[in-house]
Amino acid sequence: MTQTAPTKPFLRALAGETILPPPFWLMRQAGRYLPEYRATRAQAGSFLDLCYNPELAVEVTLQPLRRYGFDAAILFSDILVVPDGLGQDVAFREGEGPVLTPIRSARDLDGLDISGLHQRLDPVYRTVKGLSSAIPSSTALIGFSGAPWTVATYMIEGGGSKDFQEAKRLMWGQPEVFARLMDLLVEATGQYLIRQIDAGAEAIQIFDTWAGALPEPEFRRWVIEPARKLVERIRAERPGIPVIGFPRGAGMLYQAYVKETKVSGVSLDSSVPLDWAAETLQPHCTVQGNLDPILLVTGGEALDGGIDRVLKSLSKGPFIFNLGHGIIPPTPPENVARLAERVKSFKG
Ligand code: CP3
Repeated sequence: MTQTAPTKPFLRALAGETILPPPFWLMRQAGRYLPEYRATRAQAGSFLDLCYNPELAVEVTLQPLRRYGFDAAILFSDILVVPDGLGQDVAFREGEGPVLTPIRSARDLDGLDISGLHQRLDPVYRTVKGLSSAIPSSTALIGFSGAPWTVATYMIEGGGSKDFQEAKRLMWGQPEVFARLMDLLVEATGQYLIRQIDAGAEAIQIFDTWAGALPEPEFRRWVIEPARKLVERIRAERPGIPVIGFPRGAGMLYQAYVKETKVSGVSLDSSVPLDWAAETLQPHCTVQGNLDPILLVTGGEALDGGIDRVLKSLSKGPFIFNLGHGIIPPTPPENVARLAERVKSFKG
């Protein structure tokens, strides 16, 4: 395949260009803080029904773009469609979050099967396809998945967790079973991301929300190594598609993550010191982040100050403005408008 230089600002930033004002989008930019999302969601039925309804999923992806003019659209779906596609029971309960039938033994694992993955996830590919013709011409389309470790925590715990006790006990207590689950996830995730690219995704983000829960040796083996394999596979099979990694909570290990996975971009959580990131990470890859999402709930001068601090520190190199984690439901939409205005008018 021949590659031409990208023209969309988000993709130019990922290719290593310094752009002013920086391109911006926000994790969870489609979601419950928007009244129009809540209306479409009610129309869809359950959350998974919405993820598997291409027409409505396209609609909720576009909603925040209409309001705020983000430089990127992120496919509306969820990281837990992969376990669902592997045959695990996955449900989202109102006010409770995800509930899965836990995988805790070799026998449980035997019940999973990759052979039905693409049939089950076909509506997601159709959403990507629909989006690639529906988004504005200067907007980039991001496909995504969870990283194997974060997805495995939900699969093993049977839902969210505070301390990952079950996931860690499987990892250390039944290492062969855990390794087999991780291998399955690396393979399924790789195939899933390639299909999203073929449907029109122009960049990929890999969410490792719970990366920071692992000690260093396990972080290297189960966060860095799977991400490295996914980046390598995408680069080999679909050259030119940039990958952003989000090893949330990685602390000092952000550096090893960037160096060893060879991601094009890295998404910084709000705890990452900005000057350190500019000095240590930005010379190696594009950085994205990292405003605290609670500032977006707070608004006012605190919000303005937080935005300016991030802009000043990171905009001298390749940078994409974002939050350090997703938008939360109590966020007033007018604060997102205030952020959009402030980022778009930044001159350096
Ligand atoms: O706008 C976007 O960012 C795209 C859509 C998107 C969703 N989830 C929609 C969603 C993306 C990229 C995700 C990723 C995701 N999902 C992650 C990684 C990023 C992160 O936030 O840490 C994780 C860990 C999940 C798993 C998940 N999905 C949980 C734990 C929950 C319940 C908690 C919650 O916020 O409600 C979800 C549900 C979910 N995913 C919602 C949305 C809009 C809310 C569901 C609803 O409408 O009822």
